[in-house]
Amino acid sequence: MEKPLAGKYYKEKWFGVLVSFFLFFVLLCFDYSTSMLGVYSGVNLLVNKHVRPFYLKDSCFGRYIYIHDDLPTRFNYDLLANCQSLSTGSKALSDQGANTGDNMCPHLVNSGLGPQIGKPGKVLANKSWFITNPYLLEVIFHYKMKTYKCLTNNSNLASAIYVPSYTGLDASRHLWDFDHNVRDASAKDLVNWLTRRPEWKKMWGRDHFFVSGRTSWDFRRPDNGSDWGTNLRFLPGSMNMSMLSVEGSCWRNDLAIPYPTNFHPSNDSEVVQWQNRVKKYKRPHLFSFIGAPRPGMQKSIRGKLINQCQASNNCKFVHCGSPGINCNDPVTVMRVFEKSVYCLQPPGDSHTRRSAFDSLLAGCIPVFFHPATAYTQYLWHLPEKHTKYSVFIPVKEVEDLKEGMIEKTLLRISKERELAMREEVIRLIPKLVYADPRSRLESEDAFNLAVQGVLERIENVRKVIREGKDPSVGFADEDWTKFMFPEAPEEY
Ligand SMILES: *[C@@H]1O[C@H](CO)[C@@H](O)[C@H](O)[C@H]1NC(C)=O
Ligand SMILES: *[C@@H]1O[C@H](CO)[C@@H](O)[C@H](O)[C@H]1NC(C)=O
Ligand SMILES: *[C@@H]1O[C@H](CO)[C@@H](O)[C@H](O)[C@H]1NC(C)=O
Ligand SMILES: *[C@@H]1O[C@H](CO)[C@@H](O)[C@H](O)[C@H]1NC(C)=O
Ligand SMILES: *[C@@H]1O[C@H](CO)[C@@H](O)[C@H](O)[C@H]1NC(C)=O
Repeated sequence: MEKPLAGKYYKEKWFGVLVSFFLFFVLLCFDYSTSMLGVYSGVNLLVNKHVRPFYLKDSCFGRYIYIHDDLPTRFNYDLLANCQSLSTGSKALSDQGANTGDNMCPHLVNSGLGPQIGKPGKVLANKSWFITNPYLLEVIFHYKMKTYKCLTNNSNLASAIYVPSYTGLDASRHLWDFDHNVRDASAKDLVNWLTRRPEWKKMWGRDHFFVSGRTSWDFRRPDNGSDWGTNLRFLPGSMNMSMLSVEGSCWRNDLAIPYPTNFHPSNDSEVVQWQNRVKKYKRPHLFSFIGAPRPGMQKSIRGKLINQCQASNNCKFVHCGSPGINCNDPVTVMRVFEKSVYCLQPPGDSHTRRSAFDSLLAGCIPVFFHPATAYTQYLWHLPEKHTKYSVFIPVKEVEDLKEGMIEKTLLRISKERELAMREEVIRLIPKLVYADPRSRLESEDAFNLAVQGVLERIENVRKVIREGKDPSVGFADEDWTKFMFPEAPEEY
């Protein structure tokens, strides 16, 4: 009796081993991600590695990107060479003791990150903080693209074609010109050049993407209606491409990626150290607002919001634009955000704000008033369930912001929920920073997630083409739902 049983057991055991082996390989076939964040266990782990099966020789399969390096330099490098004629749109450096006037040149150092902050004091970490001009996102992105690990010189092998144009810097030279022909000349030139290249023909440009440090609206001047911006994104060739920028429009081929902050870590432990630091801050202010009113904008809620902040003992208000206060200096901003539980993020000139990313970086829970300030914008970078990391006080009309409403809403939130939200905010930090282009992190930063997002988008278009369907359906459609308020308000 014993022998057959033992034999059976033996067989079963081997069968089990074989099954496990099989399952093991099945699992390996998926490009699964392990994502662990050791911030809360106090261990230094920040792993977000893609594990590939060893027998799939090409770990870059499906992720190859071709850079249009032959792009005429008038669309990128020449602009940098003429940086003295480009405006910074800010006075960040003058308050740092450098009297540079308003020109972009001093911001171009350190791969576009800007000058390193020499004496960060107690507010910032000792290293890896820079005076970064957000308009230079397109330059930083290009630097990072150059060291992307799956580049190819063979455009036929590429899953996506990156156009290294500095579209925002280019547009900024003529944005205020009355003559539309002058304003649009470079846009037309760029699209003409691209559509005549052999790379274009493969997918009519639907595998092409480019990046802008300005909002999408700056390239969406309609034939009728608003007179702002160039018409770049309405040119037929441009409509076949995807644009990544700090703020998406209502067209589906304008996609949003985070604004650059001033923190550009050069290794993973710097990120973990920063997370640990942010976690420990005492936060004496329940809420704060850093910004300026918009007296010229009738629909702006900022005036009322500032009144509410000033009327409360729990709120800290920093008035940007008042003498001696420079909100482009990260120390000014981070000092307050690090001491605040909630940071108010009302729309400004447009729906989005760089400040939202400063607040997340400081571990301050953002309070949004419009869905298009973050929720419907940064789909690749922020969790879909926005109650996990932020507070939403929908204000459709200025009148909807009732007296004392902000403070009342925030006071109602339980300590547990506050803590859980802050933990989520801190967990998000690695995904929202643009790591220093001169180094490579193990964790996926904002750049990696943007690249992954655009690759997936293009892969979906490719699938549509393979199925013999029309890739233009849905590609560049208008989608106003992005700017609509949800039907029912969320309950906390
Ligand atoms: C920063 O440097 C100062 C002195 O140079 C040191 O005392 C401090 O611990 C450092 N802080 C961090 C976070 O490394
Ligand atoms: C592409 O070609 C250039 C010039 O021939 C070379 O320097 C570069 O390393 C190549 N890049 C890749 C990813 O093969
Ligand atoms: C502009 O024209 C388009 C179509 O030509 C039309 O749908 C749209 O309503 C017009 N917008 C304005 C503001 O007149
Ligand atoms: C845009 O793509 C469509 C295919 O979806 C193609 O027919 C059209 O010619 C393309 N436009 C340009 C300017 O290449
Ligand atoms: C990361 O950078 C910091 C300086 O910012 C340095 O002290 C540390 O040794 C670096 N760690 C690793 C693992 O390279």
